[in-house]
Amino acid sequence: MTTLSMIILAAGQGSRMKSPLPKVLHTVGGVPMVEFPIRHAQKLKVKKTILVVPPHSDPIQKGISPSLLVQWATQKKPLGTAHAVMAAVPFFKTSDNSGDVLIVYGDMPLLTHDTLAHFVAAHRTAKKPLTFMSAVLDRPMAYGRVVRDRLGAIQKIVEEKDATPQQKKIKEVNVGVYVVNVGFLKKALQKISTKNAQKEYYLTDLIEIAVQENNLQGYRLTNSVEAMGVNTQKELAFAEEIFCRQKIEKLMSEGVRFFNPSSIIIDDSVTIGAGSIVMGPATLLKNTVIGTEVIIEPNNFISNTKIGDSCHIKAGCYLDSAQLEESVTIGPMAHLRPQTLLKKKSKVGNFVEIKKSVIGPAAKVNHLSYIGDATVGAEVNIGAGCITCNYDGTHKYQTIIHDGAFIGSDSQLVAPVTIGRGAYVGSGSTITKNVSDYSLAFTRPQQTEIKNWTKRKKK
Ligand code: UD1
Ligand code: CA
Repeated sequence: MTTLSMIILAAGQGSRMKSPLPKVLHTVGGVPMVEFPIRHAQKLKVKKTILVVPPHSDPIQKGISPSLLVQWATQKKPLGTAHAVMAAVPFFKTSDNSGDVLIVYGDMPLLTHDTLAHFVAAHRTAKKPLTFMSAVLDRPMAYGRVVRDRLGAIQKIVEEKDATPQQKKIKEVNVGVYVVNVGFLKKALQKISTKNAQKEYYLTDLIEIAVQENNLQGYRLTNSVEAMGVNTQKELAFAEEIFCRQKIEKLMSEGVRFFNPSSIIIDDSVTIGAGSIVMGPATLLKNTVIGTEVIIEPNNFISNTKIGDSCHIKAGCYLDSAQLEESVTIGPMAHLRPQTLLKKKSKVGNFVEIKKSVIGPAAKVNHLSYIGDATVGAEVNIGAGCITCNYDGTHKYQTIIHDGAFIGSDSQLVAPVTIGRGAYVGSGSTITKNVSDYSLAFTRPQQTEIKNWTKRKKK
C-alpha cells in the first residue's frame, strides 16, 4: 500500500497579523491553528508529520500539545511556500519516493478531516502524481487564482500579486492543499524559481509543472468556507465566528438549547449534555464539561469547569477551574476560583467568592461572603457577609465547618479554626478559637444606649 505522510507549513512570518504571537499559534475554538492539521494527520494515521517552522521556533514548540507527535524541520529564511517544502525534503529517503505526501498550510483552521480523507481517496483513484484542491469564492482576494484554458483544463495558478486584471476576476482559487507523490515532488521542486512579483519560491508552480507532464488531477472543495486561510486579525475573527457557529449547531443537533447563539464564544473542547439551556452571551472555555438539563443564564464566563446535571448557573458568574456536582445553584454574580468543589444541591448566592474550598451537600452560602481554604460540611448555613480570614499576609490557613453548623451573618472565622457539628455562631462574631459540637459561640461588644442623646447634642 502507498504510504501517506504530511508536511505542514508554519514558517511564514505572518506579518499581516501584526501580532508578537506567531500566526499559527493564534487559536480558533481554543485550538492553536497549527494543531488542526496535526490532529488530522493523526486521524489519517500518516507515517510521519513534518512541521516546517522558522528558526527560534521555541514558542511554537511550546505552544502545541506535546501529545501531538511531529518532526520539526527548520526553514532558515521565509523565501516562500516551495522553499518551506524544500526544508522538509531531507526527511524523505529514496525509499519513500513511491509514497504520497499531503502538504497543507498551517493557517487553515476550518479545513476538516473528512475533506482531507476524501481528497486523499480521490488522489488514489486518479493515480496522477499530483492532486490539488481548489474552491470557488465570491471574494477571491488574496488567494492564488486557478487559470484554465478555453476547454476548461487547468493551466497554472497565479498569485494575486502577479495576476493581470483579467485573472483577478477569476473566482476559482487555490486552497493550499496538495497530495503529491514524493519522487515527483523532489524533482519538481528543483524546477521552481523566484521569477515572480514577490521574488519567492511559490509552491503553486508545482501545478504548471505537473500540467506540462500531464501529471495533474484537480479536486473541487464542496464547502468553500473550509478554504479559508487566516492572514489577518479580521480573518481570524471571522474563522472563530464560523467555528463557534459550527460547534453550536452540532450541540443543537445533540439536544442542547441555545438562546442568542451568535453571542456565545465556545471552545472546541467544551461538552454540553442534552436538555441543557445556554442563554447568550456566554463564554465557555477550556475543557468545560456541562451535564444534562443544566440552565446557564446570560453573561457567564466558565473556564475549565465541570458542571453536574441539573445545575442552575444564574446570570453573571465567573467560574474558573471549579467543580459543581448535580443540582447545584449558583449566582447571580458569584465567583468560583480554582479548586472549588460544590457538592450536590449546595447553593451559592449573589456576590459570593469561593476559593480552594469544598462546600458540602445542601449547604448554603447565599449572600456576600468570601470562603477560602475551607471545608464546609453538609447542610451548613453560612449567613450574609461571612468571611473566612485565611491569610495573615504570609501563610494561608484552613477553616473547617462541620455538618449542620450555622454561621450567623457578618461573622469572621479567623483561620486556622474549626466549627463543630451542629454548632451555632452568633451574628457579628469574630471567631478565633475552635467551637465544639452543638455549642453556641459569639463575640459581641455590649450595646450601649444613652437616652435623648441627639436632642441634647442639638442644643
Ligand atoms: C498561499 C498560496 C495561494 C493560496 C493561499 C491559500 C503560495 C505561493 N500561495 O498564499 O495560492 O491561495 O495560500 O490560503 O503558496 N509559509 C512558510 N514559509 C514561507 C512562506 C509561507 O512556511 O516562506 C507558510 C505560512 O506559515 C503559512 C503557509 O505557508 O502557513 C501559507 O503562507 P501565506 O504567506 O499565508 O500564503 P498566502 O499568501 O496566503
Ligand atoms: Ca495564507
